[in-house]
Amino acid sequence: MTAPRIVIVEDADDIGHVGADLVADAIARSPAASITAATGESPMGLYSALAGRHRAGMFETNAVTVFQLDEYLGLTPGDRRSLLGWMRRSFLQPLGVSCDRVVPLPSDGDPREACAAFDRAVEARGSLDIAILGLGRNGHLGFNEPPSAAESPTRVVELSAVTLEDNARYWGSVADVPTRAVTMGMRHLLRARQVVLVVSGEVKRAIVHRALEGPVGPEVPASLLRTAEAEVTVIVDRAAWGEG
Ligand code: F6R
Repeated sequence: MTAPRIVIVEDADDIGHVGADLVADAIARSPAASITAATGESPMGLYSALAGRHRAGMFETNAVTVFQLDEYLGLTPGDRRSLLGWMRRSFLQPLGVSCDRVVPLPSDGDPREACAAFDRAVEARGSLDIAILGLGRNGHLGFNEPPSAAESPTRVVELSAVTLEDNARYWGSVADVPTRAVTMGMRHLLRARQVVLVVSGEVKRAIVHRALEGPVGPEVPASLLRTAEAEVTVIVDRAAWGEG
């Protein structure tokens, strides 16, 4: 267990470049890497910078496996607002990762058996190699809402009021956001070999300090990264970190 490395950069563009360098190196070293990658605003610059490095021939993606990080429940098939759809547009297609290299989470039906099968699929690989994560205003990682234990498996969760509010912009109103979701469990995130957490904007200032400097525990799931085996890098911009 080593303390997270905190890299403070000027702005969201720099987050993208610094993060893309780290991830490109990791994939170049392990072309058959198992990867999970968040949706949301924070990693979008990283994904486009990463796609640029891929086009420049810095690494190949034909042998990677991508495990979906989180998904809403109760969507109709093909809903553009599904997180898998977002992943396709922002990460998989720009990086040339084909659909058969993706292990999706369930988005309807009774997901319990599908969650257990997903956990078995991650465990069959030993652990994830790379987790690219964003930070919720309540300290969530993926949809591991507080409280989430370090050993929590992939499971169905109820989204918190803060998360519903933050996602309302994609759905029109808070009332339209699905209230249930599936998330990869904390246990896989904490066992990943390398975690890159990207944090951007003043709205994240309180929670990034709480996660990195406050008490460690399930009430702030991201604080558990301080107990992880992984090499954890937190890339945070000035707006999020403050002047201190
Ligand atoms: C979404 C996900 C979430 C987001 C987090 C931050 O797949 O994993 O944990 O990373 O809510 O979202 P943004 O980056 O939009 O502030």
